Amino acid sequence: MNDSNRRLHGTWSSRWTFILAATGSAVGLGNIWKFPYIAGENGGGAFVLIYLVCILLVGVPVMMAEVMLGRKGGMSPINTMRHLAEEAGGHRAWSAVGWVGMVVGVLILSYYSVIAGWALHYIGEMAGGALQGASGRDSAMRFAGLLADPKRLMALHTVFILLTMGVVIGGVTHGLGVAVRTMMPLLFLLLVVLLLYGADSGNFAAGLDFMFSFRFDGLTWKGVLEALGHAFFSLSLGMGAIMAYGAYMPEDAPIGKSVVTIAFFDTLVALMMGLAIFSMVFAVPGLAPDAGPSLMFQTLPVVFGNMSGGLLFGVLFFMLVALAAWSSSISLIEPGVAWLIETHRFNRITANLLLGGIAWVLGIGTVLSFNLWQDYTLGDSTFFDVLDFLTASILLPLTGMFIAIFAGWVMRKEVATAALGDRAPRLLALWYWLLRYVAPVAIGGIFLFGLYSKLI
Ligand code: TRP
Repeated sequence: MNDSNRRLHGTWSSRWTFILAATGSAVGLGNIWKFPYIAGENGGGAFVLIYLVCILLVGVPVMMAEVMLGRKGGMSPINTMRHLAEEAGGHRAWSAVGWVGMVVGVLILSYYSVIAGWALHYIGEMAGGALQGASGRDSAMRFAGLLADPKRLMALHTVFILLTMGVVIGGVTHGLGVAVRTMMPLLFLLLVVLLLYGADSGNFAAGLDFMFSFRFDGLTWKGVLEALGHAFFSLSLGMGAIMAYGAYMPEDAPIGKSVVTIAFFDTLVALMMGLAIFSMVFAVPGLAPDAGPSLMFQTLPVVFGNMSGGLLFGVLFFMLVALAAWSSSISLIEPGVAWLIETHRFNRITANLLLGGIAWVLGIGTVLSFNLWQDYTLGDSTFFDVLDFLTASILLPLTGMFIAIFAGWVMRKEVATAALGDRAPRLLALWYWLLRYVAPVAIGGIFLFGLYSKLI
């Protein structure tokens, strides 16, 4: 079963290709665009602290579990979960984890692609020189102009979905492997340059203070839930993306070390991006840290428009944002595509057209939520806000909790730890303890408190 599945989907050529692909999945809009803005909305420092705790105590152990389950099952998440549940004497219904994951992946792709489209748009804005010498206010107005134009947003969204399907149709190994190997180092280099620029010309002290002084007054239970959810979102956990990638991993590679590497880079990029953006926000009049989803698209263009050679940098930067998003979006449909191929004998093209098509249609809702449907809200939340909250803050942590429970309680301990392929006994014990107790209790607890504080 395992071997024929490996032939059906292909495998990574080495442990490092897996690490790069998983880092490519993890590092994306979540790090560059979303983390800074939700940190900004939740008052900065305290949010960052909770986020880091969630990554370490919950994210890393659950990620190890996902890779372990994927490699052991060797199939798409739905079939992997069913197979491993049967093997462990558990109920077949555990495959629901894979099902929910597949649906959540398509839901996330539907809005992810719209935002990635904004990055595509800004490649053109930068190249065309429209933002040369722009002030904070000019930039904010230009961005508002983009959001008010549903046709343009639809066109960009369409291009990005096609790009995503294009790679997944070609198979993960070649398209994705090559892309991440070239682009991840470049992205990293640019972030360093940007950070140095921020330190030099932005208000670095204010940026540092905002990100790392732990004032708890800005933080609510909803903020804590968002921090937890974002830890899952940023590491690509809870929907089977990493499980699917684990299925294509070499049998003998140690999982713990690989996961720590991936989580380290993912967190580093988020923190660097946050620092760079807030240093600039506090240096440019007319910009506020709690601008929400528009934060990155308002601040960075001002900086690029005002530094010498900045427009070229701007083009490169937004190309790399788009590429980082691209290497992430692929992992949002790969699990579903793999399942359609395995179980329903789809070929890669039709599987992509089906899932990509659904995400494309749903994306229309996100596009309109920034303009024509702006006033159709639930509480204060637009269609996009609801979708984002439902997927990132609710569904990812919940499926993540079930993954932890499955690996920690349903599977036998010897099976789970042996499948991990790491040998350090203390670290294995630590992992198992975090997975069994800390992760489910933390996730469950945050949910209960969140509900409780809402109801009263
Ligand atoms: N991790 C990506 C980011 O930070 C987004 C992403 C890709 C994702 N695949 C995922 C999120 C799977 C959740 C689940 O931008």
